[in-house]
Amino acid sequence: MLHVVDEPVKVRAPAKVNLHLAVGDLRDDGYHELATVFQALSLYDEVAVTRADALTVSVKGEGAREVPLDENNLVWRAAQLMAEKAGRSPRVHIAIRKGIPVAGGLAGGSADAAATLVALNTLWHLELSRSELSELAAELGSDVPFSLRGGTAMGIGRGEQLLPVLSRSTYHWVLAFAKGGLSTPAVYKELDRLRESGTPPRLGSADDLMHALTVGDPDALAPLLGNDLQAAAISLKPQLRRTLRAGKDAGALAAIVSGSGPTCAFLCRDAEDAVSVGVEVSATGVCRTVRTATGPVPGARVIETDSGP
Ligand code: C5P
Repeated sequence: MLHVVDEPVKVRAPAKVNLHLAVGDLRDDGYHELATVFQALSLYDEVAVTRADALTVSVKGEGAREVPLDENNLVWRAAQLMAEKAGRSPRVHIAIRKGIPVAGGLAGGSADAAATLVALNTLWHLELSRSELSELAAELGSDVPFSLRGGTAMGIGRGEQLLPVLSRSTYHWVLAFAKGGLSTPAVYKELDRLRESGTPPRLGSADDLMHALTVGDPDALAPLLGNDLQAAAISLKPQLRRTLRAGKDAGALAAIVSGSGPTCAFLCRDAEDAVSVGVEVSATGVCRTVRTATGPVPGARVIETDSGP
């Protein structure tokens, strides 16, 4: 029986959407060179970390049954990495409450890993800086440094090297969760296959999109959103075409696949439009469920600590 004692630290970490995801060539290390612009969204996972006798993981919420509870979960590896860094053993219980769909292209697993780094930094009083945490985050996965940082940022390399992006105003989104997920490596592989057998269009530079972000006008931003992984995600899940069309038909300014999918993200003019787009898309039955969200929001942050009795 697991004996859990005192001092839970609770951290909230956001989902992300890629406003621009330009996928370059396959590198020798199996990753693709990226130029991407991330925006963190107000859809969250929560991770509560408590001292325990051994490293254990539990998961509740959205898609919980599909989440591994062992070393295949990124939070497990995050705890091991932090423990190594701290020269101690990772004897903690990590309780994840999922709001972000699993294998949805919204970086839910990365959010959990980033949240675990922040929680253990607090629980163990390590006082690692944000940049030290970001280095550890990059070891865990390409999107983890962004989950830690949040806001709006450009990602280069395999996505893990972040550069600041000036962004004005809050954007309103509808997210359409699909039935089932997509494996990120499988989507990248499908893009390689499509590129071997033809010449799918490639996104250009993000300069115009970055300019639109400084202006803060969703109508200007909408036509500039783009994702090189979209064709590959649609090739593996052709029903995504219907979902994207449903978003546009419902009045969204733009409809894109989020990251490697299958979640579709619809940019809306304002909060009111987002509600009506959400209701209309939901009524078409093209997806499992819809959520509204705003962005940008901050990255993984402590929301509650309890120093115990
Ligand atoms: O870094 P992460 O573990 O999240 O990446 C998951 C997989 O996605 C990689 O193993 C690789 O197949 C693919 N990927 C890629 N190029 C990137 C990022 C991810 O090919 N820049």
